Amino acid sequence: MSEKKIKKAVFPVAGMGTRFLPATKATPKEMLPIVDKPLIQYAVEEAMAAGITELVFVTSGSKRAIENHFDRNYELENQLRKQEKHELLEIVRAVVPKGISYIYVRQPQALGLGHAVLCARPVVGEEPFAVILADDLIDDGSDGCLNQMVRLFEAEGCSLLGVEEVDPAETRNYGIVSHEPLEGRLCRVRDIVEKPEPAQAPSNLAVVGRYILTPRIFDFLEKVGTGAGGEIQLTDAIAGLLQEEQILAYRFDGLRYDCGSKLGYLKATVEFALKHPKLQQPFRDYLQRFCVVKE
Ligand code: UTP
Repeated sequence: MSEKKIKKAVFPVAGMGTRFLPATKATPKEMLPIVDKPLIQYAVEEAMAAGITELVFVTSGSKRAIENHFDRNYELENQLRKQEKHELLEIVRAVVPKGISYIYVRQPQALGLGHAVLCARPVVGEEPFAVILADDLIDDGSDGCLNQMVRLFEAEGCSLLGVEEVDPAETRNYGIVSHEPLEGRLCRVRDIVEKPEPAQAPSNLAVVGRYILTPRIFDFLEKVGTGAGGEIQLTDAIAGLLQEEQILAYRFDGLRYDCGSKLGYLKATVEFALKHPKLQQPFRDYLQRFCVVKE
């Protein structure tokens, strides 16, 4: 492959978010805030920190709030300017930085993550690209998870899956890889299977919402058909790609929160609030009082 720069990231945001109903009936799951920023903005910032400049959102009819979020709001900006709320004005304007393209593709029916990624094919074309699932929020300290993966791709030139060890009882919620260890945080993927029961799982190394994929994945997505849960699964297409190309799994450096689940969302909210510059002290004081009273 000649092209080793990742310029495009695909954000599949057309899922139904059933684990979060009724909140997600009319509001996209990806717009749920962690403290004061929607999940999708964390994901977009992670992509931009990795040098990605073309953001491809795979959306559905009920996700218009995402398009509005990544657009200028002149009325709000004028109001903030008049009120001399300069700090807030900066926060609002920083959501849409210069030099970034926002591209929207519709997934007409929620046929699964694999189908959502396939919908991005006409925009991605013949380039390697990243996929980010915004409901997997990764707190990566200094070096963003996707940034780590993009740098690795530049060195290795093959598809990469972000992975982490999960509780063996939880394998049925993830794509699980069998692997052979390489240097440091890298492994070579031998096989991948979607949502295996713990007894059938080849390991407890789970794929979480960060991928770098070569464009050949689209050919496999075209032909995989439905898999687990009756959906077109990205995992099944990756299993096909594996027959032709090397795929590496990368145990990223960072903490992941499954914000598509209520418990994961609550954990992220508490932990991000405890790091928020203006909230950390009053929130810590509150939690300490609250825990003492409840014990
Ligand atoms: P999830 O498995 O989290 O599904 O999808 P979901 O529908 O969003 O949520 P639940 O399980 O019903 O609560 C993983 C990612 O794939 C996207 C979702 O938006 C999420 O980012 N997705 C899923 C699509 O874009 N289209 C689909 O058809 C399915």
